[in-house]
Amino acid sequence: MENLAALVKQAPDLVEGATSVKSLDALQNDLLGRRSLIAGLQRQIGKMPAGERPCMGRAIQEARGVFADLIATRREHLERETERMTLAADRVDVTLPALEFPEGYTHLITSTIEEVCDIFIGLGYRVVGGPEAESGTYNFDALNTPPTHPSRLESDTLYLDWGDPADEILLRTHTSPMQARYMEQHDPPAYVVVPGKVFRADTPDATHSPVFHQIEGLAVDEDLTFSDLRGTLAYFAREFFGADRRIRMMPDYFPFTEPSAQMHASCFSCEGGGSCRVCGGVGWIELLGCGMVDPNVFEWVGYDPSRVSGFAFGMGVERIAQVRHGVSPLRHFFDNDHRVLSQFR
Ligand code: PHE
Repeated sequence: MENLAALVKQAPDLVEGATSVKSLDALQNDLLGRRSLIAGLQRQIGKMPAGERPCMGRAIQEARGVFADLIATRREHLERETERMTLAADRVDVTLPALEFPEGYTHLITSTIEEVCDIFIGLGYRVVGGPEAESGTYNFDALNTPPTHPSRLESDTLYLDWGDPADEILLRTHTSPMQARYMEQHDPPAYVVVPGKVFRADTPDATHSPVFHQIEGLAVDEDLTFSDLRGTLAYFAREFFGADRRIRMMPDYFPFTEPSAQMHASCFSCEGGGSCRVCGGVGWIELLGCGMVDPNVFEWVGYDPSRVSGFAFGMGVERIAQVRHGVSPLRHFFDNDHRVLSQFR
């Protein structure tokens, strides 16, 4: 009895001394388990004189209740504490610098093509693509270019299969074959732009590459005139290079347009004169070749040249990107050097 009373007195300190759930479990076993003082007394109760039993029984029950309550309270506290510490340990430090994920970006050639196409989409044009391996028929014959034309020589054109002009296969030297392919497949009117790779037998240097990109434009309708061509290209130049751009047309020659011209835009860097890095001081930058679609091309695709008229133009993508961003030499477009390309993301 005295031992039990002493233990009940000690109990709060004992329970408080358990600093983990594990040590509390051990203590619970000591106070209430099969080998505990309480369990021993319980076993002896039967051998006690009948008069003392109720008193002893009550003391045991009271002690059991005190121990159980203390342990339950302590357990709750310890569990809450454990959880709090786990949460504290798991806390995310949002002030840590983030991991860097390298993010891809569009190549300057691609973004230039997209930008130009967007401008023409805004004018009602469709974007179409064509084959890079082309037949001599579409690359030359359909475009009013005779078998004797110098551009058909192996020194200028990369042939996959050379010989009989009727079935020669080559890497297209311009995007113009899509003029013929598109008109052959679609009735007029036609408003299309054709971006893509073109190939020429050139040795790479600062201004030449055997592979480069062009964007072809073709507009065919009733009553289209050279003024429509000029207005369309002036609009393009202002959208692409800036509101102050003026353009001029200089006579040129292409077998598939008549008349033919090259379009120049006023230099956005110097506005003429001096020793400008962009235009060389002339104040104008040559941007593209263009002209009114030759009646022979219309006849070849089955259009009636007395009922429709139209214009075409072809611009070099590297060229207009170079001019606008001051990128030179040409190899910057193909080297995939992020120090160069990331400037245009
Ligand atoms: N295909 C010509 C070239 O590659 C450009 C051009 C396209 C000229 C359309 C006139 C009309 O140089």
